Amino acid sequence: MSGRERFLSACRYQPVDRPPVWMMRQAGRYLPEYRALKTEHSFLEMVRSPALSTEVTMQPIRRYGFDAAIIFSDILVVPEALGQGYGFRESKGVDMQFAVRSSADLQKLSAEGADERLDYVYGALASTKKELRGAQALIGFGGSPWTLAAYMVEGGSSGDGSIIRAMAARGDAVLEQLLSMLSGVLAKYFRRQIDAGADAIQIFDSWAAWCDDYERWSLRWVREVIAELKPEVPVIFFARGRNREAAALASTGARVLSLDWATPLSEVRRALGPGIALQGNLDPACLEEDPASAAAAARRVLDDMAGQSGHIFNLGHGIRPAARPESVGAVVDTVQNYRHEQSRSAAG
Ligand code: CP3
Repeated sequence: MSGRERFLSACRYQPVDRPPVWMMRQAGRYLPEYRALKTEHSFLEMVRSPALSTEVTMQPIRRYGFDAAIIFSDILVVPEALGQGYGFRESKGVDMQFAVRSSADLQKLSAEGADERLDYVYGALASTKKELRGAQALIGFGGSPWTLAAYMVEGGSSGDGSIIRAMAARGDAVLEQLLSMLSGVLAKYFRRQIDAGADAIQIFDSWAAWCDDYERWSLRWVREVIAELKPEVPVIFFARGRNREAAALASTGARVLSLDWATPLSEVRRALGPGIALQGNLDPACLEEDPASAAAAARRVLDDMAGQSGHIFNLGHGIRPAARPESVGAVVDTVQNYRHEQSRSAAG
């Protein structure tokens, strides 16, 4: 069974020999080969170059043999294509060029042509697809309308989302128009990612926890976007901080829920019943520990879901720069050997 088949079968809740494994932010600052490339090119340069994006996407595949490759890109390329560029702060976080809070600000954005301005993403997917030769699944991605809107109205990384929360609380029309525009652009963006070779799409609602009326301000828009996509291409939905509302998350039409580490996956499974796949949910902090401790933590996640269909092993959030490459390796080995070790112990 290839990694691609293993991953897609698990997404569809079909039996697999062992859980497929990949990790959010599997390309990134924890890898020396990524840091070496970054001494020559900026992050945005690498994102905008199909050749460099392919190279960075392949680095963790070569090192660890994950079952799926997530394209090296960023959720903020979509606001940028709408006319709101961004950059990275000296300290942690991002700054948008301006904030979108009024009708006049909305006028500065243009959905027309946004799709063509994102051609480099489709180029990167097509080139990575070739390089993978069907051995691994290729995952495209984007932010949810709500999470992108949060960066756009806050004007960058924000501690508490106070501006978007206030806009939502008063039923702000500008926010409503922005979400509607983003939903249309994202539907087209994901369709073109699929045409370029993406086997699955992950939608990141990283700031889901800031949303009080979650159905009105986030889920309904995610549902609209998913309805525009081919049903045979699985959508993975990551709504950080909302594990306990899994049934509502599933109502978007996503085939896979990606969960943070706040709740054991088995608990979500009991609440939800069978049929939908669950992805997760190792605490990324475990990767900063020694390999044996990281492997033991991975085994606890595996044991929690042992014998169940529809589990994709992943982290509860992205890999952090301080992750130890050898501990990432120990976690991957643990997942890849899981079935063998189980049958060994079953045989005595
Ligand atoms: O998972 C992968 O390997 C694919 C690539 C990927 C990146 N960003 C690359 C990246 C993915 C899936 C993302 C998604 C993303 N980008 C999200 C949603 C997921 C999440 O983390 O909740 C968000 C909110 C962003 C926006 C963004 N990009 C932020 C907030 C930052 C961090 C800024 C900081 O100072 O830490 C980034 C930078 C970023 N995106 C890096 C990578 C590898 C690090 C860039 C570097 O310094 O080299």
